[in-house]
Amino acid sequence: MTQSILIIYFLSLVVFVNGGVPFEFFQFVEQWGPNVCNTGARVSPCHTPPQAKFTIHGLWPSNHSNAHLLCQSITKYTKVLLLERQLNISWPDLKGGMNNEFWTHEWNFHGKCSDPPFSLFQYFQMSLNLLQKFDVLAILKAAGLNPQTSQNIGIQNIMTPIQRTTKKYPGIRCYKNVKTGKSQLNEIVLCLEKDGATLIDCPTFVSSTCAKSIVW
Ligand SMILES: *[C@@H]1O[C@H](CO)[C@@H](O)[C@H](O)[C@H]1NC(C)=O
Ligand SMILES: *[C@@H]1O[C@H](CO)[C@@H](O)[C@H](O)[C@H]1NC(C)=O
Repeated sequence: MTQSILIIYFLSLVVFVNGGVPFEFFQFVEQWGPNVCNTGARVSPCHTPPQAKFTIHGLWPSNHSNAHLLCQSITKYTKVLLLERQLNISWPDLKGGMNNEFWTHEWNFHGKCSDPPFSLFQYFQMSLNLLQKFDVLAILKAAGLNPQTSQNIGIQNIMTPIQRTTKKYPGIRCYKNVKTGKSQLNEIVLCLEKDGATLIDCPTFVSSTCAKSIVW
């Protein structure tokens, strides 16, 4: 009797811990290295000069309430060796140069929330696929925009080509350069259904940090 109660107790514990955390949508966050690393501070926050491209910041299971999701998966982070070469290129730790620590953080604070259904491997693979599939730099270039020449650009001019191409509203995140005082494009966010594949409009709270005119 006591034994079967104990067994039921442990079973329910396993189901609970394995249940992941309910979330409503994904934010896929791409960062623009040259601006992330150009804060205006005397010492650059980055350990090496970044390339002029968007790289992954993270794929974040999110709620519309924007509440911080506490992840409960029991899957501990382990290096995804099969993907490491590509992760080094597409998901580098711009600031510290500690890629593996960066990926560990993203998994522990975000990725775990979507496990299940997405395993650690699937989570990183899905992120790499999303960066390839939604090439924001190519979209902006096709619209005649270029980071070298677009010094002050209306935020709408960045939103519109992405919205036209993907048919969904992206989020735009900016950062104020402490030296110039200008608002600069830091991150572009694409929002997806829980399936990690179907784009949806980003909720407005995703982009509320930009001035009307920004530096890219
Ligand atoms: C997030 O949303 C899901 C589904 O609406 C809900 O079950 C869950 O409790 C929410 N989590 C938090 C931390 O608000
Ligand atoms: C990824 O980069 C790290 C340095 O950050 C390096 O030690 C490792 O060998 C690289 N992995 C691959 C597969 O290129």
